[in-house]
Amino acid sequence: MSRIESISELNALRSSILSGRRDEDVLITLCGGPGCQATNCQEVVSEVKREMRNNGLGENVRLRVTGCHGFCEQGPIMVIDPANIFYGHVNPSDVGEILKRTVIRGELIDRLLYTDPTTNGKVATEAEIPFYRAQTPTLLSQNRQVDPLSIDDYLAIGGYAGFAKVLAEMDPEKVIKEIAASGLRGRGGGGFPTAKKWAACKAAHGEEKYVICNADEGDPGAFMDRGVLEGNPHSVIEGMLIGAYAIGSEQGYIYVRNEYPIAVDHARVAIQQARDHGLLGTDILGSGMDFDIEIARGGGAFVCGESTALMASIEGRVGEPRPKDVHTVEHGLWNKPTTLNNVETWANIPSIIKKGAAWFAGMGTDSSKGTKILALTGRVRNTGLVEVAFGTTIRTVVEEIGGGSRDGKKIKAVQTGGPSGGCLPASMFDLPVDFDILWEKGSMIGSGGLVVMDEKTCMVDVAKYFLNFLQDESCGKCVPCRIGVDRMLEIIADITEGRGRPDQIPLLQELGETVAHTALCGLGKTAPNPALSTLRYFPEEYEAHINEASCPAGVCTALIEYSIDAAMCDGCGACLVSCPQEAIRGEKDQLHTIDRGACNKCGICPTVCTRNAIIVQ
Ligand SMILES: Cc1cc2nc3c(=O)[nH]c(=O)nc-3n(C[C@H](O)[C@H](O)[C@H](O)COP(=O)(O)O)c2cc1C
Ligand code: SF4
Ligand code: SF4
Ligand code: FES
Repeated sequence: MSRIESISELNALRSSILSGRRDEDVLITLCGGPGCQATNCQEVVSEVKREMRNNGLGENVRLRVTGCHGFCEQGPIMVIDPANIFYGHVNPSDVGEILKRTVIRGELIDRLLYTDPTTNGKVATEAEIPFYRAQTPTLLSQNRQVDPLSIDDYLAIGGYAGFAKVLAEMDPEKVIKEIAASGLRGRGGGGFPTAKKWAACKAAHGEEKYVICNADEGDPGAFMDRGVLEGNPHSVIEGMLIGAYAIGSEQGYIYVRNEYPIAVDHARVAIQQARDHGLLGTDILGSGMDFDIEIARGGGAFVCGESTALMASIEGRVGEPRPKDVHTVEHGLWNKPTTLNNVETWANIPSIIKKGAAWFAGMGTDSSKGTKILALTGRVRNTGLVEVAFGTTIRTVVEEIGGGSRDGKKIKAVQTGGPSGGCLPASMFDLPVDFDILWEKGSMIGSGGLVVMDEKTCMVDVAKYFLNFLQDESCGKCVPCRIGVDRMLEIIADITEGRGRPDQIPLLQELGETVAHTALCGLGKTAPNPALSTLRYFPEEYEAHINEASCPAGVCTALIEYSIDAAMCDGCGACLVSCPQEAIRGEKDQLHTIDRGACNKCGICPTVCTRNAIIVQ
């Protein structure tokens, strides 16, 4: 590809890509995202290519391999357009039949269609699947439309038109005003107004300025940023170009964790393509603007997602936070003015510029505009990446998109905002997804994790799990976090292991509040959230552990015993053969019993007993 020298050459290239793309009869889109890779989509891709060759379909059928579509648990996913037919759990052995029956003859293959668990009916098209219906996919819909390794695909959907627009029509102040009018707030956790950050960095003294994309994503279970960077890396690059233009920066970095090799690879390919096209480098599109991007790889420490630790890590220093009384927009990377934004924040920028601030501000609530990608996990039927307009209620996410309880158990809470988010009870599910409202209620949007919990989840154990994670990940630099989180964890361990005392509850509360007020960085400031929110909304669970030495959800092993209900057991023997401790005795068709001395409470037998005869209490 020869370098594009001007906006008119960019437009001409876009037109030639579009006109070179005949309207094929059929487009097969296969998800190649991380969830689908885990279920062997690569083999499905190879099989589709082979069958297309064997059937001579190259002329009329196009195959596109994309990033994540969101509904990862249905992977490998295939969508066949223009009919929008959705097939899930596609095996390589299904491919021949799909091409012969669906692609050539237009027939549906019933067994590959999605089954709506609430009606048990088959759903033919992607658009009709309840998981997608209540979403507002603006970023994730682009994932569906582009092969992440193809800059032509990105150009075909209007890619780099936002950047061309700022070069042609907007001065840096106008760009910042437009972002301000859109109401965009950072998607990395804090919800800081993006335009305010850009304006402060633009105003900061110094010729050399940096922009950084934060793709560290250290939260367990989160993969929103991975989904965007892997699936549509050019949207992030275009966002960074627009930011660099507004701020006056010539160098950008994408800080991405090493455990995301595909994201690293896709970002690297996209950067090279942008350079080859003259969209990065010197005198971009003949405008006189110089800007380039480098990839910096993170080692996987959660704290390195924090802005000052991240910058230290790029500089090759130990990734520890520093006090933020000196702002990074003035003294950031290499002590120069720096703008750090999250992957999703950057990816939103091109559409805001292209479609206008009013389009973006038209979605959401008074204080939270646009959409948010959530990683929906836990005890719901449908899990995956979900993009909703701010203002959508938690109930819609859990019940409509998530499809409600996975196995009929009562859903009792959601944990939002990643490890340092908070837990909200089911009675609060009518709350909207909104930065400020969730924060007021003791939780937060954070970077977008949303874990659904049912009656078999112990909320004290949940607090222990997250505190454990944060204690492990604390860099140890400041006392409140290093010592305070340790002490909180000790108290919670006492409670879950049967040593809890009533006076420990106010102590835990006080410790949590102190750590939140005095820790140096966001990790420590928010680390008490899981404990404080569960104390606030589930006090009865703490009381049961302390006063009755019982765990109502049957999770805390020190407080529970396993036994077999004589009235329910039919002696099938399933538990006996599955018990790794050989702690279950009984003859075939006779009542079985559990030897409590041998039982280590591993929890396997209740999962195999079809008669619900195993009692955990
Ligand atoms: C412990 C810790 C970890 C963080 N991890 C991330 C992360 O993985 N990705 C991210 O974008 N922001 C993360 N943040 C927030 C960043 O410090 C920063 O606020 C954010 O990247 C700014 O981008 P935004 O304004 O677009 O949200 C983390 C903050 C803390 C305290
Ligand atoms: S709050 Fe924790 S992670 Fe942050 S600086 Fe202090 S010890 Fe380190
Ligand atoms: S699996 Fe259930 S029904 Fe079968 S022997 Fe064990 S307790 Fe009894
Ligand atoms: S990875 Fe395929 S749908 Fe998410």
